[in-house]
Amino acid sequence: MPEEINVPLLDLRAQYDTIRDEIEPILRDVVESQWFIMGPKVADFEQAVAEYCGAQHAVGCASGSDSLLLALMASDIGPGDEVICPSYTFFATAGSIWRLGAKPIFCDIDPATYNCTVETVSEAIGRCKNLKAIMPVHLFGQAVDLDGLMTLACENNVPLIEDAAQGIGCRDVTGARVGSRGRFGCFSFFPSKNLGGFGDGGMVTTNDSDIADRMRRLRNHGMEPKYYHDEVGLNSRLDALQAAILHIKLKHLDSWSEGRRTNASDYDRMFDEAGAGRSGMSFNDTDLPLLRPSAVESPAYQIYNQYVIRVPESIRDDLRAHLVENRIGHDVYYPVPLHCQKCFSGLKEETGPLPATELAARETIAIPVYPELSMEQKQHVVETIVSYVRSHATVGTV
Ligand SMILES: Cc1ncc(COP(=O)(O)O)c(C=O)c1O
Repeated sequence: MPEEINVPLLDLRAQYDTIRDEIEPILRDVVESQWFIMGPKVADFEQAVAEYCGAQHAVGCASGSDSLLLALMASDIGPGDEVICPSYTFFATAGSIWRLGAKPIFCDIDPATYNCTVETVSEAIGRCKNLKAIMPVHLFGQAVDLDGLMTLACENNVPLIEDAAQGIGCRDVTGARVGSRGRFGCFSFFPSKNLGGFGDGGMVTTNDSDIADRMRRLRNHGMEPKYYHDEVGLNSRLDALQAAILHIKLKHLDSWSEGRRTNASDYDRMFDEAGAGRSGMSFNDTDLPLLRPSAVESPAYQIYNQYVIRVPESIRDDLRAHLVENRIGHDVYYPVPLHCQKCFSGLKEETGPLPATELAARETIAIPVYPELSMEQKQHVVETIVSYVRSHATVGTV
């Protein structure tokens, strides 16, 4: 009997096996130095990230969530303030706004890209009474329309805070890497991110040296000089072990992104051959009721933190069960839009419906796209999905 094919959603072990020889000596170095928090390893990594992103400064911190918090604190966001963000994103985007006593004003997304747009943010601006910042998310590793959103931010005299937690290395239509154009670029090094640590970690990029200095204080209890505090900050420092590991991994990031892009283009081709459409299309206009992600054109550059397909909601959850039976890892990012979360129930009515967001939450599935996938694994994923969709999604169910 042929060996059964397993395809996890992410295989961190496969990646580690390729870099173990580089990582182990660095771990020993840090342990021998006994310098565990901040220090030269963190400073070197901050400089490397700033250069990589094309920003002038980078400030390490304890997580992607804290990077958002630091950007908001450095923008003086507080009670009574409003910050626009998408509802179709990880919770931390809005959680960081709420934590400071401010109010998230949720905007809808473009069904083709899953990102917020000039139109959806403009609609949300119309609902604002006290707008203080705009926080778009480069979701799944695809850049938002930074030109358009920066113009909007400028017209409204508020900072643009890029939630780039899923986007390190991706480029917008001008070819600029995310985190280099907005007032802040906020990154996460959670292990499942394209640049993931061996624990939590985060970074904020900026081109403003005063803001960078303020965030350096804010991440360390607002302290400067030692034991003097002009304002209250956080304990959100990056540790030397994470910085050393991430610095090694940063050198491989571009080749890992290329691996993800190759996988995405193999999936695109196989789904297209089966009659699928692209996200943003209607199922009625495709031979197979399945939509694969829409690809961007160079110099824009997608890094596929996730590869997300759509199927009619009538079969989505049964297809998930079928994927489990066939040993295919997958997940739904995100099943409950943020404006529908219990903790934000007070905001639901005033937000109103966000149709593209709500539909995406019911139709999407993320499938494995990590760089080390083999062709056999990709074929197993596509064949399993296509044959299920073909036999279960009839015209009446679409
Ligand atoms: C869009 C987005 N924003 C913020 C975060 C928060 O990052 P972290 O988990 O490092 O706190 C994440 C991570 O999952 C994310 O995907």
